[in-house]
Amino acid sequence: MSTTTVKEQSKTLASDAMKVSHLLGEIFSFNSSLKLIHWSVTGKGSYSAHIALDQAIGTLLDVTDRLVETSFAYLGDLNITIPETHKPADFVAHIEEFYHTMERRRELFTETFSQSIVDDYQEGIKQLLFRLKRLE
Ligand SMILES: [Fe+2]
Repeated sequence: MSTTTVKEQSKTLASDAMKVSHLLGEIFSFNSSLKLIHWSVTGKGSYSAHIALDQAIGTLLDVTDRLVETSFAYLGDLNITIPETHKPADFVAHIEEFYHTMERRRELFTETFSQSIVDDYQEGIKQLLFRLKRLE
């Protein structure tokens, strides 16, 4: 028998909603950082990086939209703030770091359908890293 009260359950849900809102803002900011890189990338291999970044942005924006909308459906209205976005100095390290952020935080999404959307997001990042690191 569970001893969790309805009040405690709604408190947990509100705290989950805050954490999910925060992460969704960070995801949107990361997506935008890829556009900043897309516009400014230069040098050897930069054309393929430019194209790979735009492909990834298309995928990741679609997946982000699914994740935000299903989170609204599951948790109710979310108060999402998008943090200020800067162009990173080392963009491959920045992308790898965000992959690990998603890996650490994916447990915030408890339902299997959300986990599946997070899988698609992480796959999009891995595909981008494959193109950036292996293809010039
Ligand atoms: Fe473009």
